[in-house]
Amino acid sequence: MSILITGGNGALGTELKKTFPDALTPSHQELDITNKKNVKEYITKGDFDLIIHAAALTHIRPCEENKTLAWSTNVEGTKNLVDAVLDKKKNTKFIYISTACVFDGHIGMYKESSIPYPENFYALTKLIGEFEVNRLPEYLIIRTNFVGKKKWPYPRAFVDRFGTYLFAQDVSRGIMDVYKENLSGCVHIVGDKKISMFELAKLTTPEIQPMTIKDYTGPRLTMDMSLDTERWKKYHISE
Ligand SMILES: NC(=O)c1ccc[n+]([C@@H]2O[C@H](COP(=O)([O-])OP(=O)(O)OC[C@H]3O[C@@H](n4cnc5c(N)ncnc54)[C@H](OP(=O)(O)O)[C@@H]3O)[C@@H](O)[C@H]2O)c1
Repeated sequence: MSILITGGNGALGTELKKTFPDALTPSHQELDITNKKNVKEYITKGDFDLIIHAAALTHIRPCEENKTLAWSTNVEGTKNLVDAVLDKKKNTKFIYISTACVFDGHIGMYKESSIPYPENFYALTKLIGEFEVNRLPEYLIIRTNFVGKKKWPYPRAFVDRFGTYLFAQDVSRGIMDVYKENLSGCVHIVGDKKISMFELAKLTTPEIQPMTIKDYTGPRLTMDMSLDTERWKKYHISE
C-alpha cells in the first residue's frame, strides 16, 4: 500500500503522519505542487494507492494579498495532482482536505448538501479545488475546521465567530475512519458542539483575551463556520 501526503509539515499534516506512518510525506521543496512537471514525475514514480492532499496556502490575509500565489497553490496545485493521477493510475483514492469556509457563514450548521458561497479568496480557491477533485473517479472531499493543539498564536480570540471545531489530531483520526469505511464523495468531519473561537482558544490558552469582529480590520471572514453532517458521525474534541 503506497500512500502520499502533501502538506506533511503543516498542522494537519503533522498529525496525518502519525495516523498514516507508512506514508511518503515530501516537504514543499521536495514536491512543489505548483510545479506540474515535478508533480507528474513524483506521482508517476510513486504509483500511489492513496493520496491525501493537505498542502495549501491556508491563511485568509496572505491569500487575499497574493491572489496569484493562492490560485497557483490551491487551484492549480490541486489540478496538477488530479491531472497526474488521471494520467497514471485513475483508481488512486484521492482525499482532498477542504474547509467549512466554502459556506457563507451567515447561519451555520451546513450539511454536505448545503450550497457553498465563499466569502473570501482563500475559500473560493478551496471550493474550486473541490471542483478539480470532482473530475476523479475515486475521491473523498473532507470539509472540516480545526487548529493544532497548542498555545493560541494570538493574544485575543473572537467571541463572535463559531465552528464545530476539532483539534488536528481528531480530524486526522476522522480521516482514517472515513477512509476505512470506504466512503467517497463529500463528507464533513465535525465536532459535536458549536463553540466560539474564544472557547476553543481557552482549551489550550487559559489567559486568552476576548475580541469581536468590530476589533478586526482585514478581508471578509466567515463568521459561523459550524458544520453538520448527514453522512458521518460527529466527534468530541480531545480535551
Ligand atoms: N487550519 C484550518 O483552520 C483549516 C480548516 C479547514 C481546512 N483546512 C485545510 O486543511 C489543509 C491543511 O491545513 P493546515 O492548517 O494543516 O495547513 P498549514 O499548517 O498552513 O500547512 C500547509 C502546508 O502546505 C505546504 N505547502 C504550501 N504550498 C505548497 C506547495 N506549493 N507545494 C507543496 N506544499 C506546499 C506548506 O509547506 P511550507 O510551510 O513548507 O510552505 C505546509 O506544510 C489545507 O488544505 C487547508 O486548506 C485548514
